[in-house]
Amino acid sequence: MEKEADVFYRELPKVELHAHLNGSVSSQTIEKLISRKPHLDIEHDMTVIGKGQRRTLDECFQVFKIIHQLVDTEEDILMVATDVIREFAADGVKYLELRSTPREDKSTGLTKKRYIETVIKAIQQSKNDGLDIDVRFLVAIDRRNGTEVAVETVKLAEEFMLHSDGLVVGLDLSGDPRVGHGKDLLPALQRAKNCGLKLSLHLSEVASQLEETDLLLDLPPDRIGHGTFLHPQVGGSQRLVDKVLKNNIPLELCLTSNIKGQTVPCYAEHHFKYWYLLQHPSVICTDDKGVFSTDLSQEYQLAASTFGLSREAVWTLSQQAIDCIFAPDDVKQQLRQKWIDLKPQVFK
Ligand code: IMP
Ligand code: ZN
Repeated sequence: MEKEADVFYRELPKVELHAHLNGSVSSQTIEKLISRKPHLDIEHDMTVIGKGQRRTLDECFQVFKIIHQLVDTEEDILMVATDVIREFAADGVKYLELRSTPREDKSTGLTKKRYIETVIKAIQQSKNDGLDIDVRFLVAIDRRNGTEVAVETVKLAEEFMLHSDGLVVGLDLSGDPRVGHGKDLLPALQRAKNCGLKLSLHLSEVASQLEETDLLLDLPPDRIGHGTFLHPQVGGSQRLVDKVLKNNIPLELCLTSNIKGQTVPCYAEHHFKYWYLLQHPSVICTDDKGVFSTDLSQEYQLAASTFGLSREAVWTLSQQAIDCIFAPDDVKQQLRQKWIDLKPQVFK
């Protein structure tokens, strides 16, 4: 972590809705993974984008490849998921939706099914340990893997949605935004929606994807990841914005990720401002807290300092995120009560 966020932001109860498991691995956990696999010759600085540094999208996706080499057994996944959940809890996150792309690895015997089961095991253990955080899981489709894998992933997600005590709540579409086309994934996403999986789609993360975005917005998704190039000021269109507004689709906004990945030139120009002024539901998230060397408290603090938000406005922002979670209404009610109970303490 680059800089400790102020106590207020740390004590602020928070909801994290956009966190990729392998992008969220902290420095401490990376150290443990490296010491388990010295033969890979991976150095710590190959897995993190530090203070003031920026990378091209190609370089960012290269980092994920390196982390995937370090995380290729059930034991690794269990450790990574356990650590990531603990870290979010320690940062004041009360509700977390983790997402991850199930992988198989013939050399270690890892299967996609065991991958998901292992993440679920870590979530259950965090409950048994009494951590003050409610964790759910979104199964991710990597868009690079095409139609067949997407359909297979939806089937797996469907199975787990029915047999995971409500822990698997939805599906994520992510991966290098410049690879593949959403139209090839549409049948799989439609199927997911029909069977009751909630959909969070990375949309318009890079410029010139108007056609794909238009198509996928017709599903419509339940939330949008990034949506950086939706609005007309950056080459999007009013038509796309109107679709988002009409269906009231919340946005997951990840400031530092977009700056370090260079899809947004600077914090002040982040599209948070556009959607915030429209009073459209927008949730501050981290994306990849390990790779981008941040945490959710820092992201709230950055949004507040960049856009001049009062503490009351920051509180409202974190509270309204509850409306956007994929877990059912009774969970929303419990979280709303938690926010009411914690407020005097945070504003003391
Ligand atoms: P994993 O799914 O837990 O292995 O997390 C890493 C994966 O998340 C990457 O390989 C990408 O597919 C995806 N990912 C992480 N950050 C981004 C992003 O900013 N845009 C698109 N995909 C992302
Ligand atoms: Zn993402």
